[in-house]
Amino acid sequence: MKILGIETSCDETAAAVVEDGTKILSNVIASQTEFHEKYGGVVPEIASRKHLELLDSVIDEALNKADTRLEDLSAVAVTIGPGLVGALLIGLASAKALSYVLEIPLIGINHLEAHLNAGFLEHPQVRPPLVSLIVSGGHTILALMDKDMKTEVLGSTLDDAAGEAFDKIARYLELGYPGGPVIDTLAKEGDEKAIAFPRAMMDKKTYDFSLSGLKTAVINYMKNAKKEGREPDVKDVAAAFQAAIVDVQVAKTVKAACEKGVKTILLAGGVAANSSLKKKMAEKASEYIIDVFYPSSELCTDNGAMIAALAFKYYDKGPYLDLNANVNENLFLA
Ligand code: KG4
Ligand code: ZN
Repeated sequence: MKILGIETSCDETAAAVVEDGTKILSNVIASQTEFHEKYGGVVPEIASRKHLELLDSVIDEALNKADTRLEDLSAVAVTIGPGLVGALLIGLASAKALSYVLEIPLIGINHLEAHLNAGFLEHPQVRPPLVSLIVSGGHTILALMDKDMKTEVLGSTLDDAAGEAFDKIARYLELGYPGGPVIDTLAKEGDEKAIAFPRAMMDKKTYDFSLSGLKTAVINYMKNAKKEGREPDVKDVAAAFQAAIVDVQVAKTVKAACEKGVKTILLAGGVAANSSLKKKMAEKASEYIIDVFYPSSELCTDNGAMIAALAFKYYDKGPYLDLNANVNENLFLA
């Protein structure tokens, strides 16, 4: 059974064909980065316009690469939230049209749930119960998934999301957009101990996170250095900043797994592509004989395959969307 997945929640125009929920036949992602880069972040209006321009050809390419005709599809799945409302609407309108014309079910997908489930695509051996850290441009969520795959949110960010912090600091340091990959690369050559940035909420009992203080600390550090006539080594700043984020995420995630008595951690979302996060999480977890899994980088960041794959689980029982369905920009993890 082949399902077409459409993803337009932010600045990736993406479509994929997945067979039987696990076999990725195609996964086409048109990044809009070059159109947003000069603004240092995603401009919602530009994102919507670009989705409109790109989506038809991205869907065509996904079908061609999958050697699949429209008539071969059993369902069409689309992200309905959370995300940018205008961007989401472009994907939903396209999916509605396809579902109507082809007379196949239309399945609305929660973007966060799709990120979480992306890990199962490449690691079928992963079995809940598990603790998942979902870290993206819009969210930082620590969740428990029980053996029946029901999720409970244990904590989330009180202010900035992890990816948002990477993007804002990269913008401040004039490193370009998106900030995560460039800071990840620079940090490899820097000394993370060179500057002691704060690790907010590290010792608090809660599973919540806070990143706005760290952002301010980096900006103050740069301003003070300039005032004192020093030219800070941007590689050290990148490494120390990244370590301050990663160390808290690792500590809280491993603590949650220990306290909830689970032996599996699953990383998800764009920031899960971060090399230091993956390495430090695996190191710390191994001390407690906890396994860590994460998707390949292409499945960490926004993509259509995770949408189509999750839709397979809903194919039999629904719920299906009708033509009056709307997006929900504030959807959270149930
Ligand atoms: O999941 P995603 O593609 O979109 C959202 O749902 O938000 O995540 C995008 C975020 C961006 O903020 C980007 O800077 C970050 O993921 N990101 C990274 C890395 N690759 C992407 N952050 C840290 N290290 C990376 N290697
Ligand atoms: Zn995402």
